[in-house]
Amino acid sequence: MLREAGCRERVVVHCCTVAAVAEEMLKNIKADRPLVMAGSLLHDIGRSVDNGILHAVIGGEMVEKKGFSSDLVNIIRKHTGAGLDDIDVEDLGLPPGDYMPRTIEEKVVAHADNLVSDNRVVGHRHSAERLRDKGAFRGAARMESLHWELSKLYGMDLDIIPEEIGEYPDLRWLSH
Ligand SMILES: [Fe+2]
Repeated sequence: MLREAGCRERVVVHCCTVAAVAEEMLKNIKADRPLVMAGSLLHDIGRSVDNGILHAVIGGEMVEKKGFSSDLVNIIRKHTGAGLDDIDVEDLGLPPGDYMPRTIEEKVVAHADNLVSDNRVVGHRHSAERLRDKGAFRGAARMESLHWELSKLYGMDLDIIPEEIGEYPDLRWLSH
């Protein structure tokens, strides 16, 4: 679907890497696995159209048009950082709506994405720093708290994941 939509190979590899991180989280976190996998793999499908902040909204619409569930659409819409609050939504000029991950599946995908930089699995501080560099201090704090919320459910600091699965995990399992 990503390739069909026109995503670059780099985006495909990124999405597969996010799926590998989410899969590792699900070893200890109870969630709907097929939904998390679909959300991880498709979260950036909107990048085929726009690489800015709108890619999440566009991606959600693309998947909605294909007739997928609103659960999946919401995972995609809400995957930016650890979500966006009403102030962010207004500042960024996004269409009004809820952009905060609330279900466990929405949270796992959003944060698995925070633990992947391009094709590399990283600790959460890497992405928190990037948000601070952009001046998104509330977003960075929100991400820290999502990190600890999910780490608690995982039973360990999720920053162990790059060690657990490798910085460049084997993605071949995803192809069958
Ligand atoms: Fe994204």
